[in-house]
Amino acid sequence: MSGRGLFVTFEGIDGSGKSTQARRLADRLRAEGREVVLTREPGGSPGAEEIRRLVLEGDPDRWSAETELLLFTAARRDHLERTIRPALAAGKVVVCDRFADSTRMYQGLSRGDLRETVDRLHALMIGIEPDVTFLIDMDPGIGLARALSRRTVEERFEGFGQDLQARMRAGFLALAQEFPDRIVVIDGNRPADRVAEDVAARLAPALTA
Ligand SMILES: Nc1ncnc2c1ncn2[C@@H]1O[C@H](COP(=O)(O)OP(=O)(O)OP(=O)(O)O)[C@@H](O)[C@H]1O
Ligand SMILES: [Mg+2]
Repeated sequence: MSGRGLFVTFEGIDGSGKSTQARRLADRLRAEGREVVLTREPGGSPGAEEIRRLVLEGDPDRWSAETELLLFTAARRDHLERTIRPALAAGKVVVCDRFADSTRMYQGLSRGDLRETVDRLHALMIGIEPDVTFLIDMDPGIGLARALSRRTVEERFEGFGQDLQARMRAGFLALAQEFPDRIVVIDGNRPADRVAEDVAARLAPALTA
């Protein structure tokens, strides 16, 4: 589906350790001599990073849920065209911090009941799924505390509190059941080293396939 390379994504609630684990996996694969592109969403290409600023900064009510979904989809399309597809075609491993599952969750559930629209736009404009998605599952209270401890200007989506974090966790776990062939649930309530070992072990079969 993804060409000659391997497409790996990290998902999970705020502060669950996605960025930490994406970076560690990329470092580990590079140390093994593989060519890796470490990227993120929203963003991951110059155009998509511009759109990232439009959606993550400023007044939370700046965009309707529908407009926001279109902006995220536009960013993903640019990221796909400019970064992901070329890397996969060249046989590289693409490690991406968040991808379409985040949109299924955040625009599909929390920002109005847009899941069907999310899926239709995805089929129309994106059309690929990762080979493997690691869902870093963790206690919502711990995740929130971690996320708040390194708060940035991009706080629009983090002002929601523990209740929403708990709903998001449940939503991500439901996605894992919806896509059992692709999504691997990882226990994030452990030291980062242990989590990283687990991720590497679970990816090994896909790397040798
Ligand atoms: N397993 C872990 N144990 C303890 N602290 C951790 C662990 N993993 C990450 N952290 C710390 O928790 C904070 C959040 O981690 P990280 O930025 O990787 O999460 P994230 O899922 O990318 O968050 P966001 O959704 O807000 O981008 C960071 O300060 C990071 O150093
Ligand atoms: Mg992060």
